[in-house]
Amino acid sequence: MNISIVGTGYVGLVTGTTLAELGNTVYCVDIDENKVERMKQGIVPIYEPGLEEMFLRNIQAERLFFTTNIKEALDKSDVIYLALPTPPGEDGSADLSYVISVANQIGEMMTSYKVIVNKSTVPVGTADKVREVISAKTQIPFDVVSNPEFLREGFAVEDSMNPSRVVVGSSSEKAKDIMAKIYQPFTNTGVPIIFMDEKSSELTKYAANSFLAVKITFMNEIANYCEKVGADVDKVRLGMGSDDRIGHRFLFPGIGYGGSCFPKDVKALIKSGKEENFDFKILEATEYINKKQKVILVDEIEKYFGGNIQGKKIAMWGLAFKANTDDIREASSLDNIELLLEKGAQVVAYDAIAEENVRKILGDKIEYSKDMYSALEGADCLLIATEWSEFKNPNFELMASKLKNKVIFDGRNMFSMEQAEGSGFFYKSIGRKT
Ligand code: UGA
Repeated sequence: MNISIVGTGYVGLVTGTTLAELGNTVYCVDIDENKVERMKQGIVPIYEPGLEEMFLRNIQAERLFFTTNIKEALDKSDVIYLALPTPPGEDGSADLSYVISVANQIGEMMTSYKVIVNKSTVPVGTADKVREVISAKTQIPFDVVSNPEFLREGFAVEDSMNPSRVVVGSSSEKAKDIMAKIYQPFTNTGVPIIFMDEKSSELTKYAANSFLAVKITFMNEIANYCEKVGADVDKVRLGMGSDDRIGHRFLFPGIGYGGSCFPKDVKALIKSGKEENFDFKILEATEYINKKQKVILVDEIEKYFGGNIQGKKIAMWGLAFKANTDDIREASSLDNIELLLEKGAQVVAYDAIAEENVRKILGDKIEYSKDMYSALEGADCLLIATEWSEFKNPNFELMASKLKNKVIFDGRNMFSMEQAEGSGFFYKSIGRKT
């Protein structure tokens, strides 16, 4: 199959590379000439474990191409995936201007039947809107399909090559057949393909992400309550998760969820609800709790230092919104930095992968360290904001020799209590007894 992917952001690039790996010829289109030129030279514009290898393999096999010319890509393709940004507008609703503008171009340029696939996370009703826009421009038949993406950053290759399910929203038999053919390599190995109408498919994506955000937030509340009553959230988590109706995944408490998806999708679903006079109370509570949870340890740091952290130097391990990504969108680290600076503290941060992105927005408002131990030099305490594996089993003696005080505030529950307290540290984590 010949496929175009319009938009080579995170989802577009991973989808394009995956579809090439499945044997299709894929034309990735982007308006950014510089980026397209770099991709042609084999440079992957995002950090994602395992992606570069797959990307280079498919360029070499001449199944993966890059262009700024949408018309050229359209002419060569039967199926066009839209993987365009849908950033939150000021009121939280998803901004569809990129999607609509490309739909217009497709309507003007297409010369034969096409399947247009909405891969971006878009509000319920977007497939209808795209259909309207294209119909206004052409008489040539086409179909619009919703096919949400469920991959996680940091696991993009793993998730895209082994999806838990493929969801396809379409009311056209012809388009359904084409989508079934594209995903046949997956369905052959037992991955379910779930067909439904476009609106249900669009909502499935928001419902799945919002549910996971609620699940994490519920666990964060349980963790905070554990601290009040002297229970241990690790034990509660294991006890709960062993019921396979609940499951062990996404029950890890911490300093809140971030990233480019959960916060945006929760907000957008609340907003879409409001447009129908529908209050998503559970999502409103989730947003409220998560906002507070992100900086819950700043209170603890203040408490530890007698209510005043003016002039204190806080070492921070981790800046990315989660491990294995350089993405800092809605990262808890940033909320913590903002609040710590506001309270007069200084921050020295270490994150080998995400530092560059933080520098772009914070410049020298904070200091950066080239390795995890030198960040601790002369610092009053350590705050862990991201669960990078390199922090899992540190040299506590070395840490103690660098830090002014043997104090760790751990927003990601990286260590067992025995590990940290056994090394003589004051160790405050989330939902466990100090
Ligand atoms: C999320 C979903 O997991 C994907 O299925 C979805 O495709 C994607 O959004 C998207 O819409 O594109 P992602 O944002 O990459 O993926 O990251 P997650 O691994 O889901 O983590 C999100 C946040 O939740 C992170 O800040 C993470 O630290 C936090 N989290 C996750 C917890 O605090 N506890 C957990 O138990 C799990």
